[in-house]
Amino acid sequence: MKQQNVHYFPGHMQKARRVIESYVKIVDLIIELVDARAPLSSQNPLLNQLAASKPRVVLLSKADMADPRVTDGWIGYFKAQGYAPLAGDLKKGKIVKTLLAVSEPLMAAKREKEKRLGMKRQPIRAMVIGIPNVGKSTLINNLGGKKAAAVGNKAGVTRAEQWIKLADDFILLDTPGILPMNYPDGAQAVRLALLGSMREDVLPTEDLSYALLGYLKENYPSILLNRFAIPDLRDISSDQALIRIATRRGLLENGAPSTEKAAYLLIKEFKDGLLGPASLEVAPC
Ligand code: G4P
Repeated sequence: MKQQNVHYFPGHMQKARRVIESYVKIVDLIIELVDARAPLSSQNPLLNQLAASKPRVVLLSKADMADPRVTDGWIGYFKAQGYAPLAGDLKKGKIVKTLLAVSEPLMAAKREKEKRLGMKRQPIRAMVIGIPNVGKSTLINNLGGKKAAAVGNKAGVTRAEQWIKLADDFILLDTPGILPMNYPDGAQAVRLALLGSMREDVLPTEDLSYALLGYLKENYPSILLNRFAIPDLRDISSDQALIRIATRRGLLENGAPSTEKAAYLLIKEFKDGLLGPASLEVAPC
């Protein structure tokens, strides 16, 4: 994707670091959420510093909006990195079973230690971490559901934390760890803006729409054909494409097709998954 000159200042990095550090101390397992449409761009390497020693499930959220073949590539990539990856639609109910299944094998050291010390089997204590808008609250709400009982306060940290019981041997912190975005480069900033993880005013809408059009042209030309009846973007400029979208959707400004409104619509439809499954980033080989 085209490089852009972006100035982005992540605020509260230090505060986020302190909060996450305090949480990490009391959990056995990190559930790192990344957006399946751009898993690397939606990671923050800060987590590697803060939770290097903790077993980690990498959960690729919003897989329903991503290109399934590309998502398979990412699953292989994260496996090769030593994590337990899984992908899914966090709005659907099935995720808890899968999560429990991939988590237990990561607890070998904990189980070994319990055995060595002659302790009873303790529940896995997990927490959800990720940058904004990757689905943390959706997952916690989905996992919490109505059936799961809150297991009450636990001592040992400065604040009393609430835990949600997902199974007899699995409890989850009901508060997610929110990672700020790491100073992203231009291409990464474009991806994050398209995922809705970055403030909308950071990049001008039209520039963002040009980047998206360029990417779709190269990687998913059928999307433009199916959704907007644009047969081949190679023959027309991005502005012309926006005019076609505006004309087709009746987006006018003073009686003329509005490229600004078309740019806004294109981005919104991408964010909402209305264009059809598409990924913005392919796993490195
Ligand atoms: P956050 O806590 O990490 O900031 O993210 P949050 O759960 O608030 O999710 C951000 C948006 O992404 C929400 O949409 C949520 O519904 C949507 N979302 C989360 N996971 C998935 C998923 O796996 N698939 C799809 N398709 N969408 C997902 P919203 O429009 O902001 O809110 P809402 O109106 O849907 O509640």
